[in-house]
Amino acid sequence: CGIIGCIGRGSQTLDTLVHGLSKLEYRGYDSAGVALGGTELSVSKTAGEVADLREKLNGQNLRGGAGIAHTRWSTHGPPTDENAHPHTDCADSVTVVHNGIIENYQSLRDQLVSDGHTFTSDTDTEVVPHLIETYLSAGENPADAFRAAINDIQGSYAIAALIDGANGLFAARNDSPLVVGLGDGADFNTEGGVFYLASDVPAFRDFTDEVVYLEDGEFVRFDRGIQVTDRSGTVVDKDVHTIDWDAEETGKSGYDHFMLKEIYEQPRALRQCLRGRIEEQTATVDIGDLGGLNPTGVQLVACGTSYHAAKYGAQLFRDAGVSAQALLAHEYATAPPPIGNDLVVGISQSGETADTLSALREARRRGARTLTVTNTVGSTMDRECDHTLYIRSGPEIGVAATKTFAGQLTALNLLSLATSEGSNKRRTVVPALRDLAGHVQRILDSSAASTVAEQYDDAESYFFIGRGYQHPVALEGALKLKEISYEHAEGFAAGELKHGSLALVDENTPVFAIVVGDGEKAQKTVGNIKEVEARDAPVVAVTDGQSDAERYADHVLTIPESRPRTAAVLANVQLQLVAYHVADRLGRSIDKPRNLAKSVTVE
Ligand code: G6P
Repeated sequence: CGIIGCIGRGSQTLDTLVHGLSKLEYRGYDSAGVALGGTELSVSKTAGEVADLREKLNGQNLRGGAGIAHTRWSTHGPPTDENAHPHTDCADSVTVVHNGIIENYQSLRDQLVSDGHTFTSDTDTEVVPHLIETYLSAGENPADAFRAAINDIQGSYAIAALIDGANGLFAARNDSPLVVGLGDGADFNTEGGVFYLASDVPAFRDFTDEVVYLEDGEFVRFDRGIQVTDRSGTVVDKDVHTIDWDAEETGKSGYDHFMLKEIYEQPRALRQCLRGRIEEQTATVDIGDLGGLNPTGVQLVACGTSYHAAKYGAQLFRDAGVSAQALLAHEYATAPPPIGNDLVVGISQSGETADTLSALREARRRGARTLTVTNTVGSTMDRECDHTLYIRSGPEIGVAATKTFAGQLTALNLLSLATSEGSNKRRTVVPALRDLAGHVQRILDSSAASTVAEQYDDAESYFFIGRGYQHPVALEGALKLKEISYEHAEGFAAGELKHGSLALVDENTPVFAIVVGDGEKAQKTVGNIKEVEARDAPVVAVTDGQSDAERYADHVLTIPESRPRTAAVLANVQLQLVAYHVADRLGRSIDKPRNLAKSVTVE
């Protein structure tokens, strides 16, 4: 879910909030709502996307100098008007937006109902305005009533509340991100000025680049300037950070979809990732202190696309002779505990995925050193882990991860080269890394992927196979296609398809086979191509042309020659384009696929 709040923008408050919501839709988009306050609270909300809310607001006259708004990814209750946020109390004097899950909501709700409160939604969130109402009725002032209510709830939350007559807004976080933006004239404990509050910076980046990141257990009130306090009410001194990317980076720049724009941004993103970190003449890799980490073992934890990067990273370390495993973050509790000098690496574009965050916290409890590979400066993982390696991809808005996956693979190369691989390896891999951006550009300049998409947009199922470093790419190729086209797709280690799933292969199931080089792995994958060809499956070879894969393929998606580990980045670009064009031909909602959210901050 995405939250935005703002205060101090006068008659522009509503526009500012709705604009902010549109920037946060990647966090969820099944319902949206807004509340304005000042003298009197008014709320408008609807099932559907921010565009639906905008339409609904057209006929309404919401006014107020302070406001909160929300775009939802449902956890409790289906996406209906009633379940959309903000939620209010019985007297319509308190209104609340929330991201996260309130674990003890049922018992709180039962108590509130028996005290006479009436609920209008199925959400866990609705207990919060009613709790605040209870404390206000007991004579607490708004700030204390808000604090008391928050202290009653357990679970994960980023919460913002407007309270009638309080002339300000109140917020708190625990396990869900929340960041304050300082606009014109804004300062701590000084009245006046423009303040923003959001789940993520793009919500208000058009208006300010000065931010304050809130930590778990912190409260913030925006009435006399801002004041940040801890759970007990003690004032906390906060640092102000300056954002170093531009607002335009979160626009579509003429592309039909964010996803396509982000696919095309990969050459630049890769250059940014490598800038100042590789030196070709001396074959050195410089990632600062991280180079000295010298892990004896590595556990890589992640979800979704980032998990595919983790599988790739584990292979890099294993090839370097370091024991390494990729683990699904939500299964981390069942993994063997890290030992000795093990490093636990959390890979997460957003740095906020709840499953990954909790695995990293578990790793710390188990005494391990933690490092996050993330795109998001100031994210919770960035702040909580012992070390961070930024992938520097720039903001990614499309729900389907593209340039950040390329950035993750590249950053993992830097990490393994700097910590675990010798100079001979660096001498061959550093030039391959340097060439990546140009090679990706060559792929982007060709139209082969859209031709393949045209050929196969009505297939029954799509299979993706690859060996070694190409196995995670096969998994990612299938995930990308599933996410945005809603068609069935599966990725396999190339040798595995014949052990069962070959039963599904026929003339309506194209098989995308990634074949790199002409070594043993490539030859075996060519053998697997022949197996599916014998069952009449159309074959699309994603290949650098070194093997004879093309001979057996119906279509070829060419990638420039590279080392197998860097070729994985290139093959993936072809598969991103196939997924994009298939989904586009099918008229899918590419940037906001159904049921998904970019950043899932609940476990
Ligand atoms: C969500 C998104 C996926 C993403 C995963 C991990 O499920 O829909 O696209 O790969 O989260 O996200 P992260 O921010 O941790 O990389």
